[in-house]
This record gives sequence, C-alpha cells and structure tokens, in this order.
Amino acid sequence: MTGTPLIDAVDISRRDPLSGQILLRQTRFTLYAGDRVAITGPSGSGKSVFLRALALLDPLDSGHIAWHGKPVERAAIPRYRRNVAYIRQRPAILDGTVEDNLRYPFSLKAYRDVQFDRTRAASLAAQAGRGNDFLDKRASDLSGGEAQIAALIRVLQLDPEVLLLDEPTASLDPESSHAIEGLVKAWFADDRQPRASVWVSHDPAQAKRMSERHLTMRGGVLDEAAAPRDANEEPAQ
Ligand SMILES: Nc1ncnc2c1ncn2[C@@H]1O[C@H](COP(=O)(O)OP(=O)(O)O)[C@@H](O)[C@H]1O
Ligand SMILES: [Mg+2]
Repeated sequence: MTGTPLIDAVDISRRDPLSGQILLRQTRFTLYAGDRVAITGPSGSGKSVFLRALALLDPLDSGHIAWHGKPVERAAIPRYRRNVAYIRQRPAILDGTVEDNLRYPFSLKAYRDVQFDRTRAASLAAQAGRGNDFLDKRASDLSGGEAQIAALIRVLQLDPEVLLLDEPTASLDPESSHAIEGLVKAWFADDRQPRASVWVSHDPAQAKRMSERHLTMRGGVLDEAAAPRDANEEPAQ
C-alpha cells in the first residue's frame, strides 16, 4: 500500500496505571485505506488494550496516533472517534426500542450535522436478515446476536472510515456471526470513502475470511503472524 495511512500509531504503549506492568509494548502499527487486518492471540494478551488504545479510548503511556498524517490533538478526539469506531464484544444497549438505540448517537454533539434515517437503518437490518419489525423490538427482548447486530447498525449508519472490531461474534450463534460478517463486508465494499478494518477474533477461520493481513498478540507484543498453512498447499505425495 502507498499514500498517507488512515491511521499511523507510532510507538504507542500502555501500562497498568496501578502496578506499572506493561500491557502493550511499544508498537508501530500502520493502517492504510483498503487494509483488512485480523489479530488473534491468547486471552489476556493485550488485544483489547491495543484496540482501545487505537480507538483513543484510553490514555497512551507513550507515542501518538496520527490520522491522515496528522497527530490527533485532544480537541480532535471526538471527530476521530466518529470516524474510527470501536465495536465491543458485549454491546452497550440502552432501554427502549432498537430504533431508540439507533437514534441515540444523533443526540450527541459530534453528530449534530446528521440525522437519523429510518429507511437506511431498515435496509441495514434487512442486510442482516432482520424483518421490518426489528427496529420496533424492545432492546430488552433482543438475543445476544440481535443486540450485537443492533450495535453494529448503530455504528454503520454513521459511515465510519475505520472499524475496530473487538471479538464482536465471540459469544454469538452462527447465524448472527454470519450476519455481522455480512454487514462488515457490505460496509467495506461501499467505496464512497476510504475504509479499513481491524478485527480481533478468537476464530482463525474468521480471521482468514475477514482479513488479508494477520497479526498476533502475545504478552503485549504485536507481531506479524506466520503465513497460515493451507491444506491445499501441502506438498504432493
Ligand atoms: N485498564 C486496565 N488496567 C489495568 N490492567 C488492564 C486494563 N485493561 C486490561 N488490563 C490487563 O491487561 C491484560 C490484557 O488484557 P486484554 O487486552 O483485555 O486481553 P485480551 O487479549 O483478552 O483482549 C490483562 O492482563 C488485563 O487484565
Ligand atoms: Mg479482549
């Protein structure tokens, strides 16, 4: 890839503020338009710490994050977060209907210039295989899979540039996982603006489906993964 990266995380690191223990070793990570990156690694290795640092949700202990070539200043963080969306494993769903949840971001200052579009939201729901009644469902009646679909639609309707997906399907049924992957693929294929994604996954098959570049996290160290062995590439007997 060439050109200015969408995100360039330069020598970022994170420590446990209490014990001082290193959670993320100094890391350089560059994400270009069109990149689809997957990260796998053992539980507790620092995948979420890294992704949250990239999303500027937690303070960095060193380094900085440049966005379109410019370091993100404090005042620009809301605009950065609008474009670089972090999807959690367990979504935060509010009381009320799915539509109430989808309308919520538009009540925030950062989204003053855009309005909720029910047709668009319904079309995203349809892409995820949900019927017309989905937007009117009570959030408290949603399954885990449906809650994650609603949370992803809440983000996608805002046209983010980068998705940081933190094991979004880890505890979901296969049908919901498939719907989540489909929504992300359709978002990525929309070429009105540059797009890139980082998908933390517990599932190597999913990591392969959803990325071209595969990294591993181990003990707070981010590394290129060894090329996966493909059964079709076994030497002929
Ligand atoms: N805010 C925090 N303060 C202190 N320790 C943390 C914090 N967030 C995560 N950790 C610790 O950092 C390590 C990596 O956590 P995490 O990134 O959540 O792992 P995973 O790879 O499973 O996503 C764990 O030991 C976790 O307990
Ligand atoms: Mg995690």
